[in-house]
Amino acid sequence: MAAPVRSLLKSRPSLLRTAVPAIRFSSTSSKSVSLKERLAELIPAEIENVKATRAEHGKKAFGPVVVDQLYGGMRGLPALIWDGSVLDAEEGIRFRGKTIPECQALLPKAPGGSEPLPEALFWLLVTGEVPTQEQVTELSKDWAARSAIPEFVEEILDRCPPTLHPMSQFSLAVTALNHDSAFAKAYQAGVSKKEYWGPTFEDSMDLIAKLPNIAGRIYRNVFGQGKLPAIDPSKDYSHNLATLLGFGENHGFVELLRLYLTIHSDHEGGNVSAHTGKLVGSALSDPFLAYGAALNGLAGPLHGLANQEVLIWLRKMQAKIGEDASDEAVKEYIWSTLKAGQVVPGYGHAVLRKTDPRYTAQREFALKHLPEDKLFKLVGQIYNLVPDILLEAGKAKNPWPNVDAHSGVLLTYYGLDQMQFYTVLFGVSRAFGVAAQLIWDRALGAPLERPKSYSTAAIQKIFKDKS
Ligand SMILES: CC(C)(COP(=O)(O)OP(=O)(O)OC[C@H]1O[C@@H](n2cnc3c(N)ncnc32)[C@H](O)[C@@H]1OP(=O)(O)O)[C@@H](O)C(=O)NCCC(=O)NCCS
Repeated sequence: MAAPVRSLLKSRPSLLRTAVPAIRFSSTSSKSVSLKERLAELIPAEIENVKATRAEHGKKAFGPVVVDQLYGGMRGLPALIWDGSVLDAEEGIRFRGKTIPECQALLPKAPGGSEPLPEALFWLLVTGEVPTQEQVTELSKDWAARSAIPEFVEEILDRCPPTLHPMSQFSLAVTALNHDSAFAKAYQAGVSKKEYWGPTFEDSMDLIAKLPNIAGRIYRNVFGQGKLPAIDPSKDYSHNLATLLGFGENHGFVELLRLYLTIHSDHEGGNVSAHTGKLVGSALSDPFLAYGAALNGLAGPLHGLANQEVLIWLRKMQAKIGEDASDEAVKEYIWSTLKAGQVVPGYGHAVLRKTDPRYTAQREFALKHLPEDKLFKLVGQIYNLVPDILLEAGKAKNPWPNVDAHSGVLLTYYGLDQMQFYTVLFGVSRAFGVAAQLIWDRALGAPLERPKSYSTAAIQKIFKDKS
């Protein structure tokens, strides 16, 4: 880290809570430089940056650990390094120092589109730099060229019973891609540790590229939507994914997908899916194995499955109290959920303490494209009621909505109303963040993760001996 940044952090430690991109913006990105070439240029300086940071600060205490954190899901424990995105409790996510509105303004868009292209977000996550339009187009083409999945993976998916949850099918297929892992092959061939990032990069690019074909196949197999069309190399990633799902002609849906894939991509390093990917990758499991594991975490109802749960909850509410219910009736329904010992899906967060800016971005999209939609209005009505109720109930530390409170309503509006599929779309997007992190972990030689666990008896003994 450069000296001016160090002294700034000393005088304003609150900056640590927002992102200070480890890699600065650079205008050196030229059209002839590919993502891999640019990354190769950046890695040596970042290795030195990490070395210098460790040399200067490595032995310093960093935040207190209290026993409650051992029992309490490690909330707030400073334990991981990831420069790609940083989550501030009040402000929400920044990708390499950029808020969602800044990304919406700065990142290249498709011709005729106004939402950022997720290809550009991936470039930003990997390099810390905003790519040119041409670099993004090249990335779209590269991913299209890598998009085919092996026949045996198609067969695995075709043999899954439609009753198997789409997320389980997704994780099976991603794990099976390990069959062709460049990293696994290179490791077997004795590749040097310094070279790990190269095959990890190739696997990560393949992983992201193949997800639309996997997701599209699952969608069509489970929901009977006919034969899967081919990827078009002249179209961007989101457009192709929309086409595979049967929505390629719907401009609004394609734009929604561009926004959706951008904002769900990363949420710092500690959430279940990002951390699982990093943890499994730390055993030098290749990106397919690591991301298959991450998907299994994303499939939990307290994490990515919450977007499905929100829609199920809204539909149940409408069935019970009607479509244009009064505030009183909605309040009563929310209370009945809490009194039944269930959570209100889409509300609360382990880190955030304010409305999630990913919720706000989707709300703004809805105000622009579907202001009169009934389900959107219900989401707005709930937004006005749930926080007070959660505060009154007195348990949740954050009564505000998270990303999942809004996404399903937008997808439903465009006709993608198979809610069991929603988390698969989240899973396509989250691969961007996990892949970027895996590449950097291998480039920086991140070690095997191995935190220490204690028994309750040991905790009691330690403090008895101290008293
Ligand atoms: C996201 C979530 C798992 C965070 O968990 P957390 O960090 O443990 O949250 P808190 O510290 O605020 O939890 C304290 C208590 O409030 C409860 N709580 C938190 N959010 C709640 C919600 N939306 N509805 C009802 N109760 C909630 C917790 O279940 C916990 O209860 P307990 O003490 O009986 O176990 C939690 O807010 C939740 O379950 N939300 C609903 C699911 C969801 O939307 N997930 C997507 C997250 S992006």
